[in-house]
Amino acid sequence: MSDPQPVYLSDYQPPAYRVIHTELTFDLDPAATHVKARLLFERNDQADDKAPLVLDGEQLTLISLAIDGTALTEADYQLDDHGLKIHTVPASFSLESEVKIAPSTNTALEGLYQSSGMYCTQCEAEGFRRITFYPDRPDVMATFTVTVIGDVQKEPILLANGNPVARGEMEGGRHFVKWEDPFPKPCYLFALVAGNLHKVEDHFTTMSGRDVTLQIWVEEENLDKTEHAMASLKRSMEWDEQTYGREYDLDLFMIVAVNDFNMGAMENKGLNIFNSAAVLTHPQTATDATFQNVEGIVAHEYFHNWSGNRVTCRDWFQLSLKEGFTVFRDQCFSADTNSAPVKRIQDVSFFRTAQFAEDAGPTAHPVRPDHFIEITNFYTLTIYEKGAEVVRMLCNLVGWENFRRGSDAYFERFDGQAVTIEDFVECMAQASGEDLSQFMRWYSQAGTPEIDAYGEYDYVHSEYRLTLRQRTPATPGQPEKLPMHIPIRMGLVGTKSGQDLTLTLAGEKLGKDAVIHLRDEEQTFVFTDVAEAPVPSLLRDFSAPVKLNFPYSREELAFLLTHDSDGFNRWDAGQRLAMLALDDLIAAHRNGVEKVMDSRVTEAFRTLLTGSTVDKAVLSEMLTLPSEAYIAEQQPIVDVDAIHAAREFVRQSLALVLRDEFMAIFEANRTDEPYAPTPEQIAQRSLKNTALSYLMSIEDEKAVALCEEQVAVDHNMTDVRHALTLLVHSDRDDLSAPALKAFGEKWAHDPLVMDQWFTIQVTRPQPDVLERVQFLMQHPAFSIKNPNKVRALIGAFAQNRVNFHRLDGKGYALLADVVIELNRLNPEIAARLVTPLTRWQRFDENRQSLMRAQLKRIKEEPLSSNVYEVVEKALA
Ligand code: TRP
Ligand code: ZN
Repeated sequence: MSDPQPVYLSDYQPPAYRVIHTELTFDLDPAATHVKARLLFERNDQADDKAPLVLDGEQLTLISLAIDGTALTEADYQLDDHGLKIHTVPASFSLESEVKIAPSTNTALEGLYQSSGMYCTQCEAEGFRRITFYPDRPDVMATFTVTVIGDVQKEPILLANGNPVARGEMEGGRHFVKWEDPFPKPCYLFALVAGNLHKVEDHFTTMSGRDVTLQIWVEEENLDKTEHAMASLKRSMEWDEQTYGREYDLDLFMIVAVNDFNMGAMENKGLNIFNSAAVLTHPQTATDATFQNVEGIVAHEYFHNWSGNRVTCRDWFQLSLKEGFTVFRDQCFSADTNSAPVKRIQDVSFFRTAQFAEDAGPTAHPVRPDHFIEITNFYTLTIYEKGAEVVRMLCNLVGWENFRRGSDAYFERFDGQAVTIEDFVECMAQASGEDLSQFMRWYSQAGTPEIDAYGEYDYVHSEYRLTLRQRTPATPGQPEKLPMHIPIRMGLVGTKSGQDLTLTLAGEKLGKDAVIHLRDEEQTFVFTDVAEAPVPSLLRDFSAPVKLNFPYSREELAFLLTHDSDGFNRWDAGQRLAMLALDDLIAAHRNGVEKVMDSRVTEAFRTLLTGSTVDKAVLSEMLTLPSEAYIAEQQPIVDVDAIHAAREFVRQSLALVLRDEFMAIFEANRTDEPYAPTPEQIAQRSLKNTALSYLMSIEDEKAVALCEEQVAVDHNMTDVRHALTLLVHSDRDDLSAPALKAFGEKWAHDPLVMDQWFTIQVTRPQPDVLERVQFLMQHPAFSIKNPNKVRALIGAFAQNRVNFHRLDGKGYALLADVVIELNRLNPEIAARLVTPLTRWQRFDENRQSLMRAQLKRIKEEPLSSNVYEVVEKALA
C-alpha cells in the first residue's frame, strides 16, 4: 500500500455535478442495513459535458446501480476502495443505488453506527461516504427526504433531519417514519437516530412569533439529567435573536444524547447529536465545570444553525469559517450568561497552554491549512480556538456595530451557499471600510507571534516611548514569516496616582484605554503629555493571540496586580509574578540549592485574601497558580520533576504562611443552599475549593477532616469530586482508598461518573499511577471502544506529567500500546491520543529518545491515514 497523499487547497475545483434533491431509505439491521438512494443530479454550466460522475464511497457493499431507471453494468463504472466513477451521464438525471452497511461493527464511529444498542450517525467531515455513494463535499447542497424503517420493539423512535411527514406500520413487526428537510444542506449535516429513546419536550416562541418544539432524546434513566441543557438551549435561541438577529428556521429542534461519540457534539440540521458527556447534568453527577461546558456546547451547536448550516464551507480548508466564528459566538454567549472576566481568563489560560503548544510543535498549521492528509486531524485548537481569537480581533478592529452589519450582510448574501473565509472577511471590510489585507495573514501563517516590548519614560519631555518588535518563529513548511497586523489594547497606569493616564499618540487623544496597531517588524509609539512615570498594561483582555514579553520587575507586577483597571491583566500580572518566582525555584531545584519563597508573592496573596474587593470567581482564578502544563510551556526544556516540585513548594509555602486566611475563606464560603448552577454559587464553590486545595497541600489536619466531610455530604458533585480528588492526590491513602471504593461502588451504574472516578485516580502525583492505569483498563466500567473512557483513563494519564514522563519510559510505552490498538478500532481517536508523544522536542535527550522510540514503534504498524499523518509529522 502506498503512503496516504495530501490534498491541496490550491487544487480546488467546483463540482461538475450538483445534487438537487436526495432521497434515502434506511432499512435498519445491525449487520446489514440496506440504504437506497435516489439522487437528482444536474451538471454545472461550467462543466465539460463529457465530465464523468465521481462519487465517494467507503466500506459500502454495492447491490445495485441505475440511471433514470436503467440498471448499469460493470462496464459503465469503475469501483474502488474510495468510490465510484460513472463514465458518462446526461446533463440531468436520477441515480438510484442500493448498498449494504454494517453499523454493529463500525467501531470508528463515523457514518452509521450503534451506540448502547441505538443507531446513530456522525457524518462530519467525511462520514457520509460510509452510508451511500455520494459527492461527499460541503459545496454540494441538496434538500433531503429520508425514510427510516426499524423494528417496532427495538427502535420505537426513528429520527432524521427536518420535519416528520409520514409514519406507518409495516409487516414483520417493522414500522417507518419519513422525514423532510426543506433547507438545502451538505451531506455532512445529515443525521439519523433510531432506538428506544425517551424525550423531554419544551417550546420556544421565536422573535417573529413562531412556535418551535424543542426535544431532548435520552435513554430512560437519564430523563432527570436534561433540565440544564434545555434551559441552555432556550437561552441560546434568545441570545442569537438579540445579539445577531438570527432566528431558528424549522418547527422542530432535537438534541440526542449518545454514549459513544468521538467529539463533543454535532450540529446536524434540526437533529443535533451530542456526546452524553456534553449534554447530561445533574447536581449529584456533574460538576460546575460540566454544567458550564454543557451550556457552551449546546449554544455552540445551536449557533451553527446559521454559522455553518445556512451558510456553510466551500471546502474543508475553510473549516475555521464555521468553527472559529461559532466558537467566538459561544464564548460571547457564555461571557454574557456568566462572569465575563472569568470566562475570558479560563479561555485564555487554556489557549496559552494548549494552542501555543500546538503552534510550537510538529503539527503546527495555519487557521486555514493549505494541505492535509486526513481532515479529521484538523479539528484542532488552532482551527477552533485560534480561529475564534482571529474573529474576536476582527470584531474589535471594526467595532461591534460594524461587525454586526458585516455579519448580517454575510448571512443575507450567502444564505444557502458554501463559501470561503475571504467571503466572510470581505463582508467585515465592506461594513467598516477597514483595509484587512495584512490581517489576512492570520489565516495563512502558522505559529505564535512573539512580541518583545520595552518602554522608557522621559521625565523631561513627559513622554513615554514604547517599542514593540514582532517575530513569528518558523513552523513546519513555513520557514520565513511576514509581520502580522497585531491589535494591542493597552493603558499606561500612573505609578503615583494608580490610575490609567490619558493616552496621546501623534497629537491625538485616544482616551485611557486604547488599541495600538503593530504592523511592522518594529515600531515605536511615543505617548506625549504623560504626567507621571507609568507602568504599561499591554495586551489587555488578551487582544491578540501572541506572546508578549516586557521586562517587568516584580514590584511593577505587584503594582499592576492591584491597580490595573483591566481585570484580565490584573490576573495576568499575578500569573507573571508567580512565574518569575517559579522560574527561580525551578532553577534552585535543578541546582540542588535550597528553595526560598519570594515574599512578594506571599504578600500579593495576602492582599488578595484579606483586602480584596474583586468578585469571588475572579479571586479564585487569581489565587490559582499557573498549571504545570502552562509552566512547562514557558521553559526552554521541560523538566517535569523540577516544575512539579517548584509548584508544590509555592503552594505549600503559601498555605503555611496564610493558613488562617485560607481557612477563613473556606468557612466564609460554605453554604447549604440547594444546588444551582448560578454564577454566584459557582463562584463561591470555586473560591472555597481553591482555599481547601491550599490547605490540603500541607495536609492540615482540619482540612483533611473537612475533605472527608465534604466527600460524604452528597450535596453536589463539584464539592464531592473536589474533596475526593484532594484526598486521593494527598498521601493519605488510608482515607482515600475507602472513599474511592465507596464512590466507585455507588456510581457503578453511571458511566459519566465512572469517567470522573477514572480520571481522579490516574492524575495523582504518587508513583503507583502506571500500575493503576493498567489495573483500571481491566475494570468492567472501562472499554477501549468508548472514546469517553479512553479520554478519562488514558488521555488523563498522559496529562499526568510526572507519571507519564517516567524515566523508565513505561508511560510512553503504555500510550503507544493503546494507540496501536485504537488505530484499528477508531483511527480518529487514536490520532488524537498520540499527541503528547509528538511533543518530544520539548524534553531532555533521554526522554526524547524514549518518546521517539515509541513513535517509531507505532510507525512500524500498518497505519490508518489519521495516525500516519500525525506520526509522520512528529518524526520528520
Ligand atoms: N462540527 C462539530 C462541532 O464543532 C465537530 C464534530 C463533531 C466533529 N463530531 C465530529 C468533527 C466528528 C469531526 C469528526 O461542534
Ligand atoms: Zn462547531
